[in-house]
Amino acid sequence: MRKSKFIVFEGIDGSGKSTLSSMLYNKMNEQSLDVYKTFEPTDSPFGSVIRNILNKRIVADEKTIGAMFVADRLDHLTNNSNGIVKYLDDNTHVISDRYYYSSYAYHVPHLSLDYVINANSVCADILRPDIVFFIDISVEESMRRMNTSRKFLDLFENEERIRTTRQNYYNAIEREGKKDNVVIINGERTVEEVFEEIWEKTTALVES
Ligand code: ADP
Ligand code: TYD
Repeated sequence: MRKSKFIVFEGIDGSGKSTLSSMLYNKMNEQSLDVYKTFEPTDSPFGSVIRNILNKRIVADEKTIGAMFVADRLDHLTNNSNGIVKYLDDNTHVISDRYYYSSYAYHVPHLSLDYVINANSVCADILRPDIVFFIDISVEESMRRMNTSRKFLDLFENEERIRTTRQNYYNAIEREGKKDNVVIINGERTVEEVFEEIWEKTTALVES
C-alpha cells in the first residue's frame, strides 16, 4: 500500500481552503514530512483557459467548461514533470486546494450530478483522495469574507450561486463522500481551532 497521502481541501469561496492548506503544508514541512502543495484550476495552459472563462474573457457553454476542468485535472494528475501521481509515487504527500468535488459543486444544476460524476470518473479511476476536508461555512459568512478580501468577484461568486454551490457540495458528499473519505469541518471557528482539527486528522492519516 502507498504510504504517501493525497489530501484535498474543498469548500465554498472564502471558506479558508487556501489559508488552511498553506498552514498544513508548513506544519508538515516543519515535521520533516515530504509534501507538495498544489491547486485547481492549475497554472498550466489548460488552467489558463479556465481562468479566462472565469474572468469572462472567454465565453463557453457549461459542458465545455465542465470538460475543460476534467482536462485540467487529468493533466494535473498525470503530467510527467509535476503530476500528482508522480509525487505520490516518489513518496511525497500531496495537498490540493480543490479537486473533483469542486466540479460536483460548481457545475450542477447546469449539468446533472450524474453527468459530472461520470465525466470525472476518468480522474477518480486514476486517483481518489485519501481524505477530503470539506470546510463548511454559511453563505452569509462567505459573502462577508469575500467582500472584505476580494477586489473582483468571478463568474461563480454571487450569493445565489454560492448558496447553490454549498447545497451541491452537501448532495455530492451524501452520494460519494464515503468513497473519498470526506470529512465535514466547521469552518466558522478561529483559524487556529479549525486547523487543530485538520492537523489531528492528518496526523492520524499519515501514521495509518
Ligand atoms: P478560500 O481559499 O476558501 O477562498 P481563504 O483561505 O482565501 O479561503 O480565506 C478567505 C478570507 O477569509 C481570507 O481573508 C482569510 O484570511 C479569511 N479566513 C480564513 N479562515 C478564516 C476563519 N476561520 N475565520 C475568519 N476568517 C478566516
Ligand atoms: P478558486 O479556488 O476560488 O481560485 P481563486 O482563489 O484564484 O479565485 O477557484 C476558482 C473558481 O473555479 C471557483 O469559483 C470554483 C471554480 N471551479 C469550478 O467551477 N470547477 C472546478 O472543478 C474547480 C476545481 C473550480
